Amino acid sequence: MEIKNVCVIGAGVMGAGVAQIIAINGYSVNLVDLSVEILNNVKKKIEMNLEQHYVAHNKFSQEEAIEILNNIHYYTKIEEAVNDVQLVIEAIYEDMNLKQVLFAKLDSICEKHVILASNTSSLSITDIASKSKNQDRIVGIHFFNPATVMKLIELIKGDNTSAETLEIAREFSRGLKKTVVTINDSPGFITSRLIYVLCNEAINMKMEGIASIEDIDTACKLAFNFPMGPLELSDLVGLDIFNNIGDYLNNEFGDKYKPSFLLKKMVRNKQLGRKSRKGFYDY
Ligand SMILES: NC(=O)c1ccc[n+]([C@@H]2O[C@H](COP(=O)([O-])OP(=O)(O)OC[C@H]3O[C@@H](n4cnc5c(N)ncnc54)[C@H](O)[C@@H]3O)[C@@H](O)[C@H]2O)c1
Repeated sequence: MEIKNVCVIGAGVMGAGVAQIIAINGYSVNLVDLSVEILNNVKKKIEMNLEQHYVAHNKFSQEEAIEILNNIHYYTKIEEAVNDVQLVIEAIYEDMNLKQVLFAKLDSICEKHVILASNTSSLSITDIASKSKNQDRIVGIHFFNPATVMKLIELIKGDNTSAETLEIAREFSRGLKKTVVTINDSPGFITSRLIYVLCNEAINMKMEGIASIEDIDTACKLAFNFPMGPLELSDLVGLDIFNNIGDYLNNEFGDKYKPSFLLKKMVRNKQLGRKSRKGFYDY
C-alpha cells in the first residue's frame, strides 16, 4: 500500500514536529488537536520554524516553504481528519487509558487498510492496542524531539502487529530519511529505558551527596562524550516525565527501576526542570 495522506493526532511538541517533517517530505498531513486556538498557535509555530531553520539558511526557497505549509491541514474533528488517509500517527498525552480509548475509536472509524501508529515514548504498544479489534494494524513509530532534526525512529512491533503493517511503517519511516531500529514490544523500548536508568542513577548520586550537580554532568560529558549531562537532560525532558516513566517501568519490571526519592520529592515540589524554570538548575 502506498502512503500519500497522513493524519497526526495531537499537535503538541511532538505532533507539530512530526506533521512538519511529513509535510517536508511531500505528503499531505491532517493535523488534529482539541481546539482551533491550539491549532492557530501551532500553525504560527510551524511557519516560524520553517522560516528560521530552513528558508533563512537557504535550505528551502520561500515558494517551497509555502508548498510545505500548504501540505498541512488543520482539524478539530478526528472523523473528518482521517478521511482518505492511509496512516494515522497518534501523539496525544502519554496516558495509557486515553491512548487505548483513542485507538479503539480510530479502529472503529478508519477503513481496514489504514495503519494506526502511536508515538508513545514508553508505553506498551500491545496494551495500547488491547481495546481495539484489528490489532494487527497497530504499531509504534517513535520519533524523537525535535522530530524534524533527530535521525532515529524506534519502530515497535506489538504482540499482534502484522508483518505487513511493520513493513509499511518501516518503509514510510525510511522515506522520511530516518534511521529505523526495530523493537519487539517492551516498556520503554531501547532509548527511554536506558536514558531513564542513567538519569535516575545520576539523581540518586546527587541525593547521596557524592558529587555536585555540575560535576556529575561534567563527568558524563567528558567521560562518555555526551553532549549533555544526565541532570541537565532530566531538566530538559521534564522531571515529571522521568518520574512517570520510572513508575511505569517499576510497575512492569520491578524495583530495579524505582524512581529516586529525590526525583519524587522534586516533582511534588513542582520543580520539573526547564518547564517550571527550576530543576537541578535554575532557568
Ligand atoms: N516531548 C518529547 O520529547 C517526546 C518525544 C518522543 C515521544 N513523545 C511522546 O509523544 C506524545 C506527545 O508528547 P508531547 O510532548 O508532544 O505532548 P504535548 O503535551 O506537547 O502535546 C499533546 C497534544 O495532544 C493534544 N491532545 C490531547 N488529547 C487529544 C485528543 N483526544 N485529540 C486530539 N488532540 C489531543 C493536546 O491538546 C496537546 O496539544 C506522548 O505520547 C509522548 O510520550 C514525546
